[in-house]
Amino acid sequence: MKRAAQSLDDRGVATSKSVKMRNHPSKNAGIREAESIAGDGAAPVVMTDASDEVNAPASAEKSGDHHRLGIEKSEMLSEPRIILGDCIEGMATLKAGSFNLIVADPPYNLNKDFGPWKENEKKSEWKDWTRMWIAEAKRLLSDEGNIFVYGIHHHMCWVQCMMLEMGLIYRRQIIWHYENGFAGYGKRTLNATYEPLLWFSKSERYIYNPIREPYKSQERLKHKIIKNGKVWTPNPEGRMAGDIWSFPTLAGRRFRDEKVDHPTQKPLSISRRIIKHFSNPGDMVFVPFVGSGSECVAAVMEGRKYLGFELNSAYIDIARGRLENALEDRHPAQADLPLTPLV
Ligand SMILES: C[S@@+](CC[C@H](N)C(=O)[O-])C[C@H]1O[C@@H](n2cnc3c(N)ncnc32)[C@H](O)[C@@H]1O
Repeated sequence: MKRAAQSLDDRGVATSKSVKMRNHPSKNAGIREAESIAGDGAAPVVMTDASDEVNAPASAEKSGDHHRLGIEKSEMLSEPRIILGDCIEGMATLKAGSFNLIVADPPYNLNKDFGPWKENEKKSEWKDWTRMWIAEAKRLLSDEGNIFVYGIHHHMCWVQCMMLEMGLIYRRQIIWHYENGFAGYGKRTLNATYEPLLWFSKSERYIYNPIREPYKSQERLKHKIIKNGKVWTPNPEGRMAGDIWSFPTLAGRRFRDEKVDHPTQKPLSISRRIIKHFSNPGDMVFVPFVGSGSECVAAVMEGRKYLGFELNSAYIDIARGRLENALEDRHPAQADLPLTPLV
């Protein structure tokens, strides 16, 4: 099937070439957006007819059709970059085992309008589509890799089952609890004050830099504490963190400097915790659904790189602005990276 596929101009904006593309439900969203903002054409793009690869993503990588996004696979895996396009298409071009951490904040199957991706138009295909991107994500995880997936209480059960069925290893369903905002669902039910966040790993050798928090009672620590007949010495860095994570949402005036024009922007606070504790310094974090770039900005702040995909060019512009600011104050580990984000 012939379609215009995307390569990238120097702003990361897709430009079109007539090429063949794979046949799966996610293809239209990414490529149509690419067509609608297509420029004069830049780097040559090669796409193979990969419709038979839908259930065998690794073969796309083997076939070497990574050129179809207009940049070399090796570049994608070395320079931090946000790519305008469909993440499933993009992931299929990348080498298996490339990432120690994937942070995925996908459309939740509600009614949000992300421009090219309108959730109310995608409801019937959401489950199949979810299965496809998770399969690709699993392939891209290294043996020590972790994957975090945001979701919503209505539909997270499907995501968790799919991940288990695919052989990813369940580590925890973290409860992201917030007190400064809630989702109201009417008077005959409960408001929602949390979002589930799934943590799975590829193997038992997963990366984890322990999270410690201040002890609840500082007063108690002033006195000698005996536990099981022995003197207990508190850890100077605090107690081990639990699985209920309290981070405020970006609602209200308090966060007006962080909040940008994206309907589901995640706080940097939670993004930084994930990146800091579940990847290694210098790693490239993979972000399939970039949105306004929170996870990419957090990666910069924590001395990691990022590779991400996003369908909406306006969101990429927002992410670029945020990344420029973050790169100006960059972490020492980012010192050799260019100040202008590659998007
Ligand atoms: C929940 S939002 C992510 C928000 C992000 N965590 C932030 O803090 O801004 C999901 C994003 O995925 C994008 N998206 C939807 N389908 C996509 C696809 N197939 N490939 C790449 N991006 C996609 C949407 O445009 C939307 O911006």
